[in-house]
Amino acid sequence: MTNVIETNKLTRKFNGFTAVDSVNLQIKEGELFGLLGPNGAGKTTTLSMLSTILKPTSGTAEVNGFDVDTQQDEVRNSIGIVFQDPSLDDELTAYENLDFHGMIYGMPADERKQRIKEVIELVDLSEKINMQVKKFSGGMKRRLEIARGLIHHPKVLFLDEPTLGLDPQTRRNIWDHIIEMNKSEKVTVVLTTHYMEEADSLCERVAVIDHGKIIALDTPEKLKHSIGGDIISLEADPGLLPHLKKIKNIKKIKNMNGEMNISAEDAEHVIPIIFDIAQKNKLEIHSISLRHPTLEDVFLQLTGKSIREEKAGVLDRFRTRIRSRNR
Ligand SMILES: Nc1ncnc2c1ncn2[C@@H]1O[C@H](COP(=O)(O)OP(=O)(O)OP(=O)(O)O)[C@@H](O)[C@H]1O
Ligand SMILES: [Mg+2]
Repeated sequence: MTNVIETNKLTRKFNGFTAVDSVNLQIKEGELFGLLGPNGAGKTTTLSMLSTILKPTSGTAEVNGFDVDTQQDEVRNSIGIVFQDPSLDDELTAYENLDFHGMIYGMPADERKQRIKEVIELVDLSEKINMQVKKFSGGMKRRLEIARGLIHHPKVLFLDEPTLGLDPQTRRNIWDHIIEMNKSEKVTVVLTTHYMEEADSLCERVAVIDHGKIIALDTPEKLKHSIGGDIISLEADPGLLPHLKKIKNIKKIKNMNGEMNISAEDAEHVIPIIFDIAQKNKLEIHSISLRHPTLEDVFLQLTGKSIREEKAGVLDRFRTRIRSRNR
């Protein structure tokens, strides 16, 4: 399969601060690819360079075979983009928003009419087509923006935080639409997110980005597998720690605010061993649980910190509100 996106040491600095640092990406045609990282990791800056909104400080990037620096028009005509910040005209109807976008791309009137019908159906908004966008819910607006990004038949669609600040149910609904249009439109999708679950459920491959650097890149399954087994969360007497380190199947132990996160192979058999040791040494276990690793665990292992999904969620809703107020 051919690569529709290739970057080579793509870098962007702002007054000496490196926001994107030597990023190498190869994204295949038709892929649903995710860029996962915390606030300020460099996700938007990366997409901005790939969509020619920002010039790279150094390094190169090709999108659909066009250079983002020297062939900006060709790149722009072959991509669609849904920005992190809402960018619909609230006073216009859904139809008018889409029609205006089609006009910008120089599409003839009858072609626009036909295409609007197709993309609006794809995001399940046919019944709302003549409604003013200011009467739309957050999820409906996001779906309309995705439809708008598809109007001119782009080969690549960039989605910058497609479900930012939306509730979990609406988020899942948007995932369904993204999967559907990735398949039916055969469009390569590159999305950014700081929601681990989003990257996990939606993306075929995920690049984990932190401080402008890609620190891991693989399928969600392989990333989770790299943890080395399942995770045992344990709250217990700290005296247990030196004993745990001697258990063969335990690969890693991370101490997080008094809770030990233990990666272990064959973890269900490790739990009875832990209980045994605790009993023999009269060390108390307060709680113990077993779970499959998540991308949060992967991020934690790679960086020693959490993406802080919940906190970010509240912050996002706050930011979204501020943004819509400022519009
Ligand atoms: N125009 C700019 N001028 C100066 N610094 C910038 C500019 N744009 C981004 N940055 C900085 O570059 C870093 C990366 O920002 P970016 O917006 O790419 O992050 P992000 O991963 O998209 O974060 P978020 O999840 O908050 O959207 C941040 O530290 C940000 O403050
Ligand atoms: Mg961003």
